[in-house]
Amino acid sequence: MSDVMEKSAAVAENPFKAEYGHLIGGEWVGGSSGKLIDQLNPATGQVLGRIQAGSAEDAARAVKAAADAFPAWSCTSHSERQAILFEMGRRLKENAGHFARLETMGNGKHIVESTHFDLPMTIDTFEYFAGTAYIALTGELEADEEFTAMIYRQPIGVCAQIIPWNVPLLMMAMKIAPALACGNTLVLKPAETTSLSVLEFFKMVEDLLPPGVVNVLTGYGADVGEALVTNNAVRKVAFTGSTLTGRKIIEYAAKNIIPQTLELGGKSAQIVCKSADIDAAVEGVTASTVFNKGEVCLAGSRVFVHEDVRDEFVSKLVDQIRNVRIGDPMDWGTQLGAMASRAQFDKVSSYLDVAQEEGAVALTGGKAAQVEGQAGYYIEPTILDNVNNDMRVAREEIFGPVTTLLTWKNEEDVIRQANDSPFGLGGGVWSKDITEANRLARGLDTGCVWVNSYYNMKSGVPIGGFKMSGFGREGSREVLHHYTICKSVVVSTDDKPQGIFSR
Ligand code: NAI
Ligand code: MG
Repeated sequence: MSDVMEKSAAVAENPFKAEYGHLIGGEWVGGSSGKLIDQLNPATGQVLGRIQAGSAEDAARAVKAAADAFPAWSCTSHSERQAILFEMGRRLKENAGHFARLETMGNGKHIVESTHFDLPMTIDTFEYFAGTAYIALTGELEADEEFTAMIYRQPIGVCAQIIPWNVPLLMMAMKIAPALACGNTLVLKPAETTSLSVLEFFKMVEDLLPPGVVNVLTGYGADVGEALVTNNAVRKVAFTGSTLTGRKIIEYAAKNIIPQTLELGGKSAQIVCKSADIDAAVEGVTASTVFNKGEVCLAGSRVFVHEDVRDEFVSKLVDQIRNVRIGDPMDWGTQLGAMASRAQFDKVSSYLDVAQEEGAVALTGGKAAQVEGQAGYYIEPTILDNVNNDMRVAREEIFGPVTTLLTWKNEEDVIRQANDSPFGLGGGVWSKDITEANRLARGLDTGCVWVNSYYNMKSGVPIGGFKMSGFGREGSREVLHHYTICKSVVVSTDDKPQGIFSR
């Protein structure tokens, strides 16, 4: 597939600028390296624009701007911060169609998805965290006859936030909205392949924030990550991406002992029971295979089907997957777009080879797809059968439209197998038996289980991992604790000396 991008494709009208700077201290500035990174439309190979390849020096500048902005910003009122977050959401709503197109052009996800999932969720995230601006710094009181302790939650300081390329706008919102609601300043580093929609968002809202409150540093993680996270002024790091990079983030964070929230890989199980609504389960498994081309940390990519319903489930699933329309992401009829980058296309392709070597059988797909008039990185939606839970395709995160099928009959055994994974991020249970569904959901070692639905994402519901999927919870009130630090002020309400030495 080496020539996949070389074929010419129809060049769509390009809404982006030729070159973008970093956003540092309220200014759009060039990087010290003078090097730029091409941003490609992965469906066509078209260069959409160029971003700065950031350096350690740029990272230091961005952190300095955030640190300078912190004292004033951390003293703003709840209502001021709330109004800004609402306004970010409002502007995004007003321009939702435009931003959906930007997201599709930069990432390859189809336009129906960016319009009906990414944009609404991103807007909702701003609105939800706008709502939390009033409670983010709510403390507690402890008291008895001798003391009153005021337990404050205060902004933690400068945050380093590093996001991936699979849902760029939503990831941006999930990181910056809670941090800002709590009164922090930050440096955001979008992924080197998909920075444009995020940069366009900050162009749209740059007048809303005092200079330096949000700084956007672009470039390769390897060039800026360590300098950013180990900077003495950075008090917290939040990262979403691979487990491999997550481990490096922990090492960087060890230097100044700063807290981390890490949302890493997954290999989530979906358990289809005998009592399941089979059509609903088939739809859910199709969605989790195809949604965002499978480039989702929460993908339910290990499907355990009860042996009694296996034949019906598999035949309906294969039928539905075969009818998935692969094509131009900008086409409203498309259901599966292009992989986000060459690197991801190559990674998924190599796992399809691994599947074959391991003896898995592709009931559908199993290879790259050619799309008429498109040059990009397309993979056919793939259901792998003849898989056991020890195979690499069942243990490692593929991050593509590839789902492995396994069969079960014993409840204890399926829970054991589902939990026999280094990861624990998402999960699904398909059952109409409420007690069975409850036992299975409670039995899974994972941060989030959906019952009789999948990707049923709601603001306010914590998302985060067990085991190597990371730690910390986002998308909910719990994240406010990660972006605040606790301080206790203990006031004596006793007239007498404390009596430690005078007893
Ligand atoms: P990655 O973890 O390397 O990249 C994610 C972000 O981390 C990007 O912004 C990148 O520039 C940054 N980064 C990379 N190295 C860094 C470093 N040393 N210090 C600081 N930041 C650094 O993920 P990659 O390589 O793009 O994808 C590889 C695999 O990771 C995927 O195939 C998928 O399995 C998994 N992944 C999981 C995601 C999730 O949502 N949990 C998102 C993206 C990737
Ligand atoms: Mg990487």
